[in-house]
Amino acid sequence: MCGIIGYTGNRSVAGVLVDGLRRLEYRGYDSAGLAVVSGGELHEAKAVGKVRKLEEVVAALPGLGSLCGCGIGHTRWATHGVPSTVNAHPHFSNDRKIAVVHNGIIENHQELRRHLTSKGCVFRSQTDSEVIAHLIAEAYDGDLLAATAAVLDQLQGTYGIAVVSDRHPGLIVAVRKGSPIVVGIGEGENFVASDIAALLAHTRQVIYLNDGDIAAITPEKIELRDIRNVPIEREIAKIDWETGAAEKGNYPHFMLKEIFEQPETVENAIRGRLDHEMASAILSGIGLSPRELLQIGHIVIAGCGSSMHAGLVGEYYFEDLAGISTSVEQAAEFRYRNPIIEPNTLVIPISQSGETADTIAAVREAAAKGAIVTALCNVVGSTIAREAGRGIYLHAGPEISVASTKAFLSQVVVLLLFALLLGRNRRLSRSRGAELVAEIEQIPDLIREVLEQALEIKKIASRYAHVDDFFFIGRGCLYPTALEGALKLKEISYIHAEGYHAAELKHGPISLLDEKHPVMALANDIPGRDKILGNIQECRARKAPVVAIATRGDRAIRDLTQDVIEIPPCSRFVAPLPTAVALQLFAYYIAAERGCEIDQPRNLAKSVTVE
Ligand code: G6P
Repeated sequence: MCGIIGYTGNRSVAGVLVDGLRRLEYRGYDSAGLAVVSGGELHEAKAVGKVRKLEEVVAALPGLGSLCGCGIGHTRWATHGVPSTVNAHPHFSNDRKIAVVHNGIIENHQELRRHLTSKGCVFRSQTDSEVIAHLIAEAYDGDLLAATAAVLDQLQGTYGIAVVSDRHPGLIVAVRKGSPIVVGIGEGENFVASDIAALLAHTRQVIYLNDGDIAAITPEKIELRDIRNVPIEREIAKIDWETGAAEKGNYPHFMLKEIFEQPETVENAIRGRLDHEMASAILSGIGLSPRELLQIGHIVIAGCGSSMHAGLVGEYYFEDLAGISTSVEQAAEFRYRNPIIEPNTLVIPISQSGETADTIAAVREAAAKGAIVTALCNVVGSTIAREAGRGIYLHAGPEISVASTKAFLSQVVVLLLFALLLGRNRRLSRSRGAELVAEIEQIPDLIREVLEQALEIKKIASRYAHVDDFFFIGRGCLYPTALEGALKLKEISYIHAEGYHAAELKHGPISLLDEKHPVMALANDIPGRDKILGNIQECRARKAPVVAIATRGDRAIRDLTQDVIEIPPCSRFVAPLPTAVALQLFAYYIAAERGCEIDQPRNLAKSVTVE
């Protein structure tokens, strides 16, 4: 939530910042702003709304676009204070000599505000972040890094912060606690950002700050200190995402691009991970020996949003294939309900970004309770990936659309691989393992077959673009798939959509059904399909229009509804993957027809870094 970018070097600072903010916009898009230090002066620009509004403001300010030096920029997802230019970052000290951008929440901001006000500080915004600028100004004694370090123990909560001052041309000070900050290493120029997506166009060499690290960044060097101002060293990491991976290409939206990338991203998730000889999977990142795997007595999966839905699919895999009891927790609840972590419990946090605050908290709680923690993350070097210390990367490349698509699919695939490995380690026969290996290898082609039907799915979607409500029903592994389909639809089209287990429909929601309440029935030919047929009849009897996902050639379903999206035949374990792709396209085309802001739905952010 909230994107931060900083640049120091000889290029147009505002140009680099605006470009970086555009790439970070998925982190928040209520307002945006920047501050540039050049020629001993501090310049600012702010705008409510998307980054393109900020770009217009920058263009209208004579000379700002051509200034070199250093600067910081921010795109906001409002927590404290409405979206407005006053609340947009950067925030300034009263003498306007220090500018600060912040991602996170300062929990004791009211107390700090009272203290600063009593000392004569005048607050301009309603944000929690503004206190940071005033505190640094209060501590300032000629050394910006020392002043920033000095205020950190007064700040409770989470932060990624970047600071500039007109007294320190070329210098950016950055610090993190709980909210990501990554430093990008250039030649004769350097960068800082909340997220590597903003750096991809400039550099592949990065340093991930740890909590408590402070960086002093100039065009020539990057100095790192700890909170006691003692110099520290951090490893330089290499980003292996391809150039252009964070570009939209010829697609109208990132979401559509990411949906169509899925055959390749799933291939990337599988590559090198299938062991044909052993009819198993190779997942070296989990760092557990066969003996340790055998000792796992219980699995707890924690995640939020789509990542949690992937976990719910994984629950079926682990229990069915490996015979290990598994529970799925909303990461936000995990630490508050004092979970019971028995010895030999494996906790699997799932997070595309690796930065979701609630999932990070779950990782810490699990580790503190002695669990073995193995994370599933997409973003290499992210907080969860580093804190867990072991895990499986998704290799899905940057996911820019706020609504998760390709990361969800890769999560499900990796969970299937993990369950195969655990299963083969225990009760799964070699021949059953070999069948699964073959099924997993087919997934990219199954997805391609669904993508080939995009136009038909679009036609069906257009018949439902006007509705206000939608129910999604499924059974078995397709129950969590129904939850994910409903989430996709509601987040990008603003249609009220609910996912239910098909059997639960009769325990309440059925009372709502009529001709205005369509139902999406996941009726693939897997166990439970006959019961779903009965559920479709029940919906039709109440005049609810039904769209069905069915296995190619299923005539019985065609007799019940004309709106059928066909999926190639596949097993129940693999079925969630092509089915999810069909549901993604369905949601996408409905949202497109309704003219929604698909990549940046209102009120949402890609990475929820506050609780
Ligand atoms: C936000 C995003 C969702 C995502 C969820 C979890 O709500 O909008 O698309 O599923 O966060 O994010 P994570 O990065 O932890 O997977």
